[in-house]
This record gives sequence, structure tokens and C-alpha cells, in this order.
Amino acid sequence: MRTKKNILEWYLDAGVTETIGLSPMNRFNLPQEQTLLKKEIHPDPPIAATPPPAPDNLLSDALSRASQAQNEDELKKLLENFDGCSLKKTAKSTIFGEGVPHPDVLFVGEAPGADEDRTGRPFVGVSGKLLDKMMHAVGLSREENSYITNIIPWRPPGNRSPSTAEVSLCLPFVQRHIELLAPKILVFVGGVAFNALLVRPETITRARGNWYSYQTPGLSAPIPAIAIFHPAFLLRSPGQKKLAWRDMLVISQKLAELKQ
Ligand code: URA
Repeated sequence: MRTKKNILEWYLDAGVTETIGLSPMNRFNLPQEQTLLKKEIHPDPPIAATPPPAPDNLLSDALSRASQAQNEDELKKLLENFDGCSLKKTAKSTIFGEGVPHPDVLFVGEAPGADEDRTGRPFVGVSGKLLDKMMHAVGLSREENSYITNIIPWRPPGNRSPSTAEVSLCLPFVQRHIELLAPKILVFVGGVAFNALLVRPETITRARGNWYSYQTPGLSAPIPAIAIFHPAFLLRSPGQKKLAWRDMLVISQKLAELKQ
């Protein structure tokens, strides 16, 4: 039998972050007493215009550690020894990535979930299975020619979205990882990876399907980069799968061109 605690845990695992009532309520038009009561008992917290940035000392520590790495093993150890991001405290595993060295295609997702945290491997849950299927459909796999990693290597509690500070603290490690892997093509799996790595504000719906160029001082040449819908989104919106299929075909055509 499910206890209340089980149900609440299930909600947290599913990513629920707030509770809502059973019937819709127009909060712009509440009876006056209710508005006053609400103000007296639960004063609305001030809304921060921008989320707090990562402290400078932690950011420079992340940057200096990541830049020391001369190969993947070194980068993995440096990341595992980095305690500047508090997500590490609540996660069981540090999920570095998985795939072949110097891959044809590098897929960068957002952050691990419960299955990934348990196994220590990226994209192994339901959305990972869909990503594997999408890759296999165009001859790509983490075993043969691709690599999969995430912007955030630690599972955020309850699968909440990572904060901008957490993203900026993990970014130096992902950027160095991309330099060391030097893939032929970079694929942002979802909007978080696209926004963080290209420092661009577009939504994933606008960004997907277009080619961009990813360049950092540590890369000998820019890498063609493209964004695709996150498989977790496709599982919720299967009607978008046809666009995702089109994007996978575009990736495989580009790869064929680059190999000519
Ligand atoms: N979603 C992600 O973005 N990454 C994972 O590893 C799993 C789910």
C-alpha cells in the first residue's frame, strides 16, 4: 500500500515542485478579504530580477582545475575532487560521461536523473532509452562512434532544474571535456545545454534544427553544433517527434559530408 510519504517521494522524483488546487482560480481577481489575508499571512517574497551568480572564488577554482586537465582521466579526477558545487553533496554519483574517445558526435544533455545517479551512467533512464533509439536510427551509438555527457554531472534534488550558478560552476569542466574529446559534431540535447554552451538566449523551439559554430581557445577549429529537443520533452509531447527525426537526419547528413 502507498503511504503519504511514498506518494510525496514519487511526486519529487517526477519533478513536481509545487502543489496546485483541483479547480482553476483567477488570482488576479480574488475577493478582497482573501487578497488582504494572503498579504498579511504570506507576504510575497521579493522577486529577484536575476538569480544570484556563482561566487567568483568558486568560479575561478572551477576554471583553474578544468584547465589543468590534459586528458579525460585527469579531467574526471579533477571534477570528482571539486567541491564547489553543492549539488555534489546530495548526489550519489559524479556522472562524467560515456562513449568513444574523439567521437563523431558528442551529445550534451542537462543533468542526470535518479536512474543515472544510481548507476553512475548518463542517459540510462526512460529518456536515455529514447535518446539511444534516436541515435541508433541514424547509425550512432555510445559504443561505436558517439559520446554522451551532461552540463551538470550531479543529480539535482528531486530532478529540479539546475540554477544559473550551478550551471556556471560546472561549465568549465564541460568546455574542457569538449576540447579534449574534439568531436566532429556537437549536439545540445535540450535548451539548457544550448543556452549554456553557446551563451545564447533562444528557446529550444527556435534554436533546434539550425547549425551553429562552437569555438573555444582550446579548440584547433570551430565545431559545427546543433540543438535537438530533449527526449524527456519528446516523451511528454510525442507530436514533436517528427521534428526530432528530421534533426537526426540533418546530423547524419552533416556527418557524412564531414567524412567525405
Ligand atoms: N536527462 C539528462 O539531461 N541527462 C541524463 O543523463 C538523463 C536525463
